[in-house]
Amino acid sequence: MENPLLPSEVIEASAAFPGQVAACTDLDALLRLKGAFVGREGSHAARLMELLKTAPKEQKRDLGAAINALKNQWEEALKSRQGELEEARKRRTSLASAWDPDLPPPLPAHGALHPLNRLMNRLVEVFRPLGYHVEEGPEVETEGNNFDGLNIPEDHPARSSSDTFYFAQHPELLLRCHTSPVQVRGLKRLAPQIEAKGGIRFLAPGRVYRKDEVDPTHSPMFHQVEGLLVGRGIGMHHLKGTLAYAMKALFGEGADVRFRPSYFPFVEPGCEVDVRCPLCGGGGCRVCKGSGWVELLGAGLVHPNVLAYAGIDPSVWSGFAFGMGVERIAMMVSQTPDLRLFFENDQRFLNEMGGLY
Ligand code: DAH
Repeated sequence: MENPLLPSEVIEASAAFPGQVAACTDLDALLRLKGAFVGREGSHAARLMELLKTAPKEQKRDLGAAINALKNQWEEALKSRQGELEEARKRRTSLASAWDPDLPPPLPAHGALHPLNRLMNRLVEVFRPLGYHVEEGPEVETEGNNFDGLNIPEDHPARSSSDTFYFAQHPELLLRCHTSPVQVRGLKRLAPQIEAKGGIRFLAPGRVYRKDEVDPTHSPMFHQVEGLLVGRGIGMHHLKGTLAYAMKALFGEGADVRFRPSYFPFVEPGCEVDVRCPLCGGGGCRVCKGSGWVELLGAGLVHPNVLAYAGIDPSVWSGFAFGMGVERIAMMVSQTPDLRLFFENDQRFLNEMGGLY
């Protein structure tokens, strides 16, 4: 590790690293240390990669090897400490729930819907009075529905196998990385009736999958709710009114929406939608990081290529679409700082979530 090409502060940090790893007595502390050494941005590893980029050609090989060796060493130490801490946590919880023959028997627990399912149901209920029904799509999707039908170009990074799960035996299939492919399915299914019904509108709640490492704000599986409306002469004003109504129904009369231009291949124009922070009412708090607004949705006017792909004439019909992350809303409303709590199914957490939405 004494490679003279490595900056001295990295060598020093690396020397102190084993002691710091050993001093982490809980998983959160370890995660913070992990972020500082191998995190995507601002970490020692990230800075070393920057250094490698600008290094003279003849040094790249040696420097690259030294960086890799260091990173591997760090990652192994983190992984082994993580294993120890997880074991210790398991031991603690099994001790805490050890059987005590003197206690009265526990009352049988009533079953209940999971808080994320309750929130999705709630979202569906908010849109039902506007005439939206629920469309479903499979979690194993085709590239056609997940990407092509949504006007997502061949070279889009989301198509790469480092972002999306593919099946080794069936390269044309994948685990959908968003609920937007249900737009394609729903549009195709309902296209023959569009004239008779005067349009199409539905919601599509469900699970989606992405190759993300588990941390307090990421999970390789999470939930989204997609919404789609197609009609004659539909424009941004319809999108705006619909979302303003929905956010008021969800968060109360004080809720308001704000639109910022953004880009998604399947809408034009596209936007991101913020809601006035339901926790502080816009005054500024920890949840909205003082700005008074929280980002909740991606949305826009359905791209003509999406309509055409599904067999709907974009010169007659237009529409809007939106998609939101369910965990994100749940975490914000309940002020839960760690996404993993929603998947660990600890009864105490689920009970606490009982009355929230
Ligand atoms: N599919 C997008 C995502 O997962 C979210 C999204 C953005 C959905 C814009 C939409 C939309 O329907 O119009 O990031």
